Amino acid sequence: MKNITRSNLTDTVKSSFSNIDDERLKHLVNRLVHHLHAFATETKLTHDEWREGIAFMHRAAEISDASRSEFTLMSDVLGLSSLVDLMAARPGATEGSVLGPFHTRGSPWVGNGANLVRDNAGEVVLLQGRVTDIEGKPLANATIDFWQNADNGMYWQMDDSQPQDNLRCQIKVDADGHFELATIRPRPYLVPTDGPVGELLRVSHRDAWRPAHFHIIVEAPGYRSLITEVFDDADPWVEKDAVFGVRASLVRPFTPTTDEATAKRLGLPAHYLKVDLPIALARAD
Ligand SMILES: [Fe+2]
Repeated sequence: MKNITRSNLTDTVKSSFSNIDDERLKHLVNRLVHHLHAFATETKLTHDEWREGIAFMHRAAEISDASRSEFTLMSDVLGLSSLVDLMAARPGATEGSVLGPFHTRGSPWVGNGANLVRDNAGEVVLLQGRVTDIEGKPLANATIDFWQNADNGMYWQMDDSQPQDNLRCQIKVDADGHFELATIRPRPYLVPTDGPVGELLRVSHRDAWRPAHFHIIVEAPGYRSLITEVFDDADPWVEKDAVFGVRASLVRPFTPTTDEATAKRLGLPAHYLKVDLPIALARAD
């Protein structure tokens, strides 16, 4: 049997994974072992610290379920989600931002110009946008997947007082790439702090606030899917997002608007807020 020593351990572990067939997966596992071992070596990780790290992961698993991923939140507060987003950016395309833990597939399809306000309290917002390629050509086959929180700061999954699928929908853009929907102004909110990620934020004296935002996924055949957020420039928390999701290009004005014809056409109050959102998608690699 080979004698495992401090000097040959890391290479021995790496070679134990050398028969992975998928080249990319083999590379990822190799580098994971490399950096994990380097982390433990650099920090002189103790048994107690290693056990606490394992217990932390256990607590994250125990509090996670189909509608809550503590691991996604952990990735978010460590900045890993934003790092992956930023590395995926393409010149000329709209910037991405974190998916967050409250997206689920299968939101109801609604017609362009739908009104999601229904019984929701809050300031009415008309969100308008146009989906194009990076040269400005409209993408008539694009779809929008939209979700946000209610005026009390909560998403419908967290709040028994909201009907299922409140303030979320999917929309097909029109032939010129335009879409519009009426909704309410989103609110800043606290990321969940009752799990181990909350422990990490507290011990770090960090805030758990996220600035008010809309979540949007834009997809079009032949183009890179865009997962992004639109932030309210009047919200002071844009300066200090707990999950590092803010990009200057995604911070938009919520402009007070009075437009009788539009208000009548979409069933809006006479005075509403308008947010314009041009979206450019890069071609799929
Ligand atoms: Fe969110």
